[in-house]
Amino acid sequence: MKKLIEYIKEAEHNKTAIGHFNISECAGLKGIFKAAQELNLPVIIGVSEGEAGFIGYRRAAALVKSLREEYNYPIFLNADHTKSLEKIKEAVEAGFDAVLFDAGKSPFEENIKKTKEAVEYVKSVNPEILVEAELGYLGSSSVILKEIPKDATIKKEDLTKPEEAARFVKETKIDLLAPAIGNIHGMFKNAPNPNLDIERIKEIKEALRQSSGQAAPLVLHGGSGIIDDDFLQAIDAGISIIHINTELRLAWREGMDKALKENPEEIAPYKLLPAVVEEIRKTVYNRLKLFNKL
Ligand code: G3H
Ligand code: ZN
Repeated sequence: MKKLIEYIKEAEHNKTAIGHFNISECAGLKGIFKAAQELNLPVIIGVSEGEAGFIGYRRAAALVKSLREEYNYPIFLNADHTKSLEKIKEAVEAGFDAVLFDAGKSPFEENIKKTKEAVEYVKSVNPEILVEAELGYLGSSSVILKEIPKDATIKKEDLTKPEEAARFVKETKIDLLAPAIGNIHGMFKNAPNPNLDIERIKEIKEALRQSSGQAAPLVLHGGSGIIDDDFLQAIDAGISIIHINTELRLAWREGMDKALKENPEEIAPYKLLPAVVEEIRKTVYNRLKLFNKL
């Protein structure tokens, strides 16, 4: 099986994106895996600090590893939005394939300093574990939004600047960069999210190319609620991984509501949870099809 970085480079070359989907329990994992298998595509599972607090770093790693080995399948695990070095250590020790060290809320110089430390630690344990970092702040969580979070970076002057992105990648030596390009975490229920700044993605990619020859792949966070055309343009502009979470949380809830409504007396989890698996499978299937232009 190829390494995660090879799948990412392949996506970059083919102008497609790998889907990254968050879980906090087994039904979500099952739905995501089914969808990926049906399309025969590599997939990344994410657990944020909150999600890992529920499922556990070691258990998440054991579950993903069991699928990878049993099916000989390219399914990988990322410690999403990890804000402390302690939690990064837990993920690394548990055998994660990638970590996102998130100091996106810190001022630029401090972000560089903290991220550098995280990269040095991770690479000293296992140079193959990919380290991603966030430059610019995308709002805090995967929720249904009523308004744009006050601290999210969506004004043009606040978006990630190409020259800062280049310096950030060069100094920290991260493998993957998550920029602020008009994206926010969370989604509106009845309206699309704000448009992405496609030009800015191109400029960041170009600046990275010029500063280090080979540009670090770019990761798009806050995928829920983004319109299809923005996704496609963002992929063509240089995005190679896309994170989706809120849409899956909503699918989870809708699947469970449906199961409870249709089976009000049922108490066996394994009879209720298939509806959750199916809602998540459908959501992931549609997103993966789009990201891979199928
Ligand atoms: O890291 C997780 C993602 O960025 C999720 O964002 O909940 O808006 O899809 P989302
Ligand atoms: Zn994110």
